[in-house]
Amino acid sequence: MTVLILFESVEGHTAKVAEYVSNTVQALGHATHVVDLGGNASVDFDDVSHVVLAASVHQRRHPRQFEAAIAAHGQALERLPTLTLSVSLSAAFPEGREEAQDYLDEMKMRTGVHPTREALVAGAVQTAKYDYFAMQVVRYVVLKGREFDTSAPSHVFTDWEALRATVTGFLATAA
Ligand SMILES: Cc1cc2nc3c(=O)[nH]c(=O)nc-3n(C[C@H](O)[C@H](O)[C@H](O)COP(=O)(O)O)c2cc1C
Repeated sequence: MTVLILFESVEGHTAKVAEYVSNTVQALGHATHVVDLGGNASVDFDDVSHVVLAASVHQRRHPRQFEAAIAAHGQALERLPTLTLSVSLSAAFPEGREEAQDYLDEMKMRTGVHPTREALVAGAVQTAKYDYFAMQVVRYVVLKGREFDTSAPSHVFTDWEALRATVTGFLATAA
């Protein structure tokens, strides 16, 4: 079994999610091919049995380039079991989950790519990587004034065990 993992990350956390998914798949004895769609890489579906799509949300949407790439590969994706991971901070809070689901639903509408399975993954605050604008958006728009430690370089909300269970369940049932 070969799992193709297509991802795009702005500040690097979804790259870590993609790496974690790859390690999880490999620990189960399968091969992976990880492609960063933010880097204009070519995508090869030969011998691929499953696909994981992972992208982060900025200002209420997933990256345009990511959406364009998966829309372009829509026919190949339709034939394969697919798990979409939408990484956002809204997903970290019970009252934000509906909004996080909206981001994912809007991506499905725009791209026409409807995954076999999907999951909302809580992302990370990466204070050390933000400019002034990003800091204000995260603090007052995304986190809506919720307190967080601005002296720490990052705060990760991702539930890695839950992600492992999601990936394991996807591989077990989708083949
Ligand atoms: C400028 C900016 C805008 C963001 N906008 C949203 C948003 O609209 N909704 C949300 O839930 N999270 C938002 N986030 C949080 C990111 O989705 C989160 O930090 C994620 O972990 C980023 O993943 P990445 O490092 O792979 O890009 C935003 C983050 C930044 C820096």
